[in-house]
Amino acid sequence: MKRAWAGCLALMLYAGDVPAAGDAARGVKLHDDCLGCHGTELYVPEKAKIKTLAALKKEIDRWNDRMNPKFTKQEVEDLLEYLNRDFYKFPK
Ligand code: HEC
Repeated sequence: MKRAWAGCLALMLYAGDVPAAGDAARGVKLHDDCLGCHGTELYVPEKAKIKTLAALKKEIDRWNDRMNPKFTKQEVEDLLEYLNRDFYKFPK
């Protein structure tokens, strides 16, 4: 039943194929799963290698490939929103 509910929610959130705008608050929680290898210290300007919003999205997708279970498209958007809001601050 949980699945059916999630599917329903996904339908409400997704306009066609495009995920809804990311939710940074959800991203914060999801990011706990990324903390196995590094903390947020990699994201600060002095250290960060990522220089554009598109590159950041790619990087999150790249790490998501290793996650099991993987984050959904929507969750990747949430992570992107959180990392960009609190660390990278790229213009959108
Ligand atoms: C298996 C270990 C591992 C996991 C799990 C992991 N990362 Fe990473 N991550 C790394 C390492 C190592 C680097 C730095 C080296 C590199 O750039 O390849 C990195 C770099 C990054 C960077 C680039 C930082 C910068 O600006 O230079 C981002 C963004 C990032 N990770 C996000 C995530 C997110 C989001 C998740 C969860 C979906 C995640 N990582 C999970 C190991 C991991």
